[in-house]
Amino acid sequence: MDKLVIRGANPLLGTIRVSGAKNAALPAMAAALLTEEPVILENIPQVRDIETTRRLLAEMGAEVELGYGRAHHRTTICCRNLASPEASYELVKTMRASTLVLGPLVARWGRARVSLPGGCAIGARPIDLHIKGLEQLGAQITQEHGYVEARAERLRGAEIVFDKITVTGTEDLLMAATLADGETLLQNCAREPEVADLADLLNKMGARIEGAGTVTIRVQGVEKLHGAKHRIIPDRIEAGTFIIAGALTGGDLNIAGCEPQHLGALLQKLEEAGIKTAHNAESVRVMGDGPLRAADMMTEEYPGFPTDMQPQYMALATQAEGTSILTENIFDNRFMHAQELVRMGANIKVEGCRATVRGRTPLSAAAVLASDLRASASLVLAALVADGETIIDRVYHLDRGYEHLEEKLRGVGAQIRRIGEMLPKRVLAPVVRT
Ligand code: EPU
Repeated sequence: MDKLVIRGANPLLGTIRVSGAKNAALPAMAAALLTEEPVILENIPQVRDIETTRRLLAEMGAEVELGYGRAHHRTTICCRNLASPEASYELVKTMRASTLVLGPLVARWGRARVSLPGGCAIGARPIDLHIKGLEQLGAQITQEHGYVEARAERLRGAEIVFDKITVTGTEDLLMAATLADGETLLQNCAREPEVADLADLLNKMGARIEGAGTVTIRVQGVEKLHGAKHRIIPDRIEAGTFIIAGALTGGDLNIAGCEPQHLGALLQKLEEAGIKTAHNAESVRVMGDGPLRAADMMTEEYPGFPTDMQPQYMALATQAEGTSILTENIFDNRFMHAQELVRMGANIKVEGCRATVRGRTPLSAAAVLASDLRASASLVLAALVADGETIIDRVYHLDRGYEHLEEKLRGVGAQIRRIGEMLPKRVLAPVVRT
């Protein structure tokens, strides 16, 4: 298992570039299941979850070509013939977003068999709302042996009110509704930019969707969708992680190729914490020269403060003067990074969905363990300001969603390197002479 070794206390200076959004790329790849024609997606990040989705689609019989670098981070997916509309436990257990294939499969192929994901490091994360919505669209659903099986000759439009706001749930049902018979009205939808990006792609494929990015989405079902070309939006969580890196290290960092309008709640909170930023249409500059002030924060659905930035914000709060109260409202177990930060010298107390962070405490390097993707990012940020050399274990979590993180951070002055597991020296068998 790879580890990251980070030596702290260097201000980050220069320009760092943001990749395409993992959480927009994953549903976009699933959307290719809705048509027999090729779907070409650009700005696909080179991260583990994308590779898992490629395998997932390929196992079903789709043709998936992935090209990076000069190939514009482009993937071409063609789902002309599918051998089996199934997402196995082996893949779903490593990436919950695999459940995004449920809606498209039942809508186009009339059948889907997808493993139930179970809990994960950040909370329970059921998919009951995906299932309930598909039933309302007329699918017959059964659950057996840890799998959910959905069948429908043709889905039919319906009015669906989500009991709770869900991002992939909105995306799953949005995809399903594109091929349903008649009109679907989705209410209490997630408003995340990734939902709007998916709707943009689907409309390019011939879907008739209005209102994506708002709480009410109206879909007029069509008989068939066709191929399309689409560029994935920039990753707002990666951008936010870099902004905090610049602020924490007292650097001067230009975060290029991002969408500042997707970062509103974060930028506002950082201003409250004493951080100066300036932005134009596609970059944010962060100037970390002033003292950091404590500021309470609570996570909310978009456009509120994103739960995917809470762990990184916690690292920042350890270096702010005063007490910050962080309230996690989206997931029920998303404070696993707190204990690791405490091992580095932070003063954090977690009670239920609230974490009280008392700052400013100097951080000292330690061996720490990453528990999930964003927790890993939080530890990287803490290590960048810690005294000494931090070793972060289980960085495969980080590789799920951050493209070339070490290279990018090294490019702006961080001392960071990856080491593989030390293998024991091979014991040579004695030479037997005959
Ligand atoms: N929920 C239910 N039932 C459902 C679906 C969700 O009760 O059927 C609950 C969840 O348990 C949670 C809340 O609703 O308490 C919100 O979950 P949501 O469904 O919105 O999460 P998700 O769609 O599974 C996406 C992102 C996550 C991000 C959340 C919240 C993708 C692929 N994943 O997950 O990203 O944290 O929305 O914004 O888009 C990450 O990138 O690190 C990550 C975890």
